[in-house]
Amino acid sequence: MSKSPEKKKGVIYVLLRLWKYLVPVWPLLLVCVIMLICSNLLDLAVPFLSGKIIDAIGENIGAVDFKEVFRLLGFMAGCVIVSSAMSYLLSLGLIRLGQEVSYALRKDIFERLSKLPVSFFDRHPVGDIISRVCYDVDTINTTFSTDLMQVCASFITVAGSLCMLIFLSPLLSVIIVAALTVSIPFTNWQIRRIHPLFKKRSAKLGEQNGVAEESITAMNTVAAFRVEEPVIARYEEKNIEAIEAYNEAEAKSRIMGPTVNFINNMALSAGSILGAILCINGKMSLGGVSSFVLYSRKYAGPIREIANIISDLQTSVAAAQRVFSLMDELPEAPDCDEALGYPDGIYGEVKAEGVTFAYEPGTDILKDFNMDVPAGSVAAIVGTTGAGKTTIVNLLMRFYEAEKGKISIRDTDIRHVFKNDLRRSFAMVLQDAWLFSGSIYDNIAYGNHNATMEDVVAAAKAAHIHRFILSLPDGYQTQIGDDSSNISKGQKQLITIARAWLTETHMLILDEATSNVDTDTEREITIAMRKLMQGKTCFVIAHRLSTIQNADIIMVLDKGKIAEKGTHSELMRAKGLYYNLYAAQFRN
Ligand SMILES: Nc1ncnc2c1ncn2[C@@H]1O[C@H](COP(=O)(O)OP(=O)(O)OP(=O)(O)O)[C@@H](O)[C@H]1O
Ligand SMILES: [Mg+2]
Repeated sequence: MSKSPEKKKGVIYVLLRLWKYLVPVWPLLLVCVIMLICSNLLDLAVPFLSGKIIDAIGENIGAVDFKEVFRLLGFMAGCVIVSSAMSYLLSLGLIRLGQEVSYALRKDIFERLSKLPVSFFDRHPVGDIISRVCYDVDTINTTFSTDLMQVCASFITVAGSLCMLIFLSPLLSVIIVAALTVSIPFTNWQIRRIHPLFKKRSAKLGEQNGVAEESITAMNTVAAFRVEEPVIARYEEKNIEAIEAYNEAEAKSRIMGPTVNFINNMALSAGSILGAILCINGKMSLGGVSSFVLYSRKYAGPIREIANIISDLQTSVAAAQRVFSLMDELPEAPDCDEALGYPDGIYGEVKAEGVTFAYEPGTDILKDFNMDVPAGSVAAIVGTTGAGKTTIVNLLMRFYEAEKGKISIRDTDIRHVFKNDLRRSFAMVLQDAWLFSGSIYDNIAYGNHNATMEDVVAAAKAAHIHRFILSLPDGYQTQIGDDSSNISKGQKQLITIARAWLTETHMLILDEATSNVDTDTEREITIAMRKLMQGKTCFVIAHRLSTIQNADIIMVLDKGKIAEKGTHSELMRAKGLYYNLYAAQFRN
């Protein structure tokens, strides 16, 4: 996430931002807080009552007022039972709260993902993004469902115990609190030291997932090239890095617990001895000393616990930072102020004037590129692999923005058209055909919500895929798997052609639309396509030049510019680049 503006934001910022996710669930939060306070306060009464019971028995040995003792015992049991019941209900409430927050976070992330420019996905491994949506959000969920409330509970316990300590013996509490509080600056120092380690731990996990995703999706290639060893080694390396980061973060954070424990135990022992001395001198009752020791345990306990929770919170804050940095990725630039809506799409002559574009600064793919495609004509773009044909499509659709120059449709700069309306204007069949998991019918009807069964069948017939679909046991209702592995590449392309057929637009982009189809089928589709292309402005990109011979205009892309243009026969006569490309194909 190199360009995220989020990166520098600190822990407080992240917590405040997470807090915003709690605002909509405030009633539940309020209930949780009330239960938290009640259950902890009731719990705090227990040591005091136990001290009272000890005194009730110890100070009147021989003449114990059992009625009083049982009254206190009953009271204590009541406190314990109610407090436990409330803490159970609290945990249920917190789980719910954590889920609500996860839901809202995932919703926001997904909404943001859908607004990010295409270039973002070109730059980031899918595995890393998924790691943020799944793993990091889960970590945050844990924070809400346990850690955060535990911190609050600890705070109440510490504050309550402190009051009780002072109430029982101001002198003793000064000594013991001073000793116990020593561990606080130590804890603080540790937090600052450990935080970057937890951030690194999350980042390494993301990298590991990125590599896993990349390798798993390419398992057949891995097998074919028999590169299992290097792939395993690469994953192993990431695996080790992730584990090392994990270990380092945990090792450095776990030292806090025992250290704080040690300080606490020393302080408690000192407290007990001093308490005993006070008791012998009659300055304190036995029950008072007992309550005091119990309260100092309560006071010290959370400090130790906080040390443990902090390591969890560290992970969580790091996870939240990664999640927020994803949410803060800049969305696609909004439409400019002069932009206008074309709800039915825009259509007309397509012109590019002096367009210069580079994916990476310094390596221009298009340089002072010009083209002029009259409305309703079929324009073919040919050129060697990597010449920039798909790049032209990316610019036409505004997946990327040209740095210099202007592309216009019907004399309107495409920057002055709402992006949605611009994209609505084109039907596309892309180089790698994309199908989603769902039925074949849904896949074909994807771009046209009003399509009827007849329309879908007509489109499938035009794309020469109808017969194949009927041969499937479930016909049009055949489910396409997540990875659409039950359908060949060529069949996939034909389905996407049928989809484009159904999309009612005036402009059409075919980028290697038939590259995976045999020559016979291709010829038949080309004939059928002519019907589809009638009256539409079409951009056809094809390596097999035989399919574009009938184009109204053929443009040869070379060195970022149109080097030649004309009809097939004109270009053949010119005996230039096109002639050479064509001759080379026919020699083969
Ligand atoms: N997302 C990207 N980031 C950086 N460089 C890219 C990106 N996409 C393409 N390129 C580079 O831009 C150049 C043109 O790519 P483009 O996809 O437009 O070629 P093409 O003419 O469509 O090739 P093909 O015939 O193989 O489809 C290539 O050199 C490629 O390396
Ligand atoms: Mg291409």
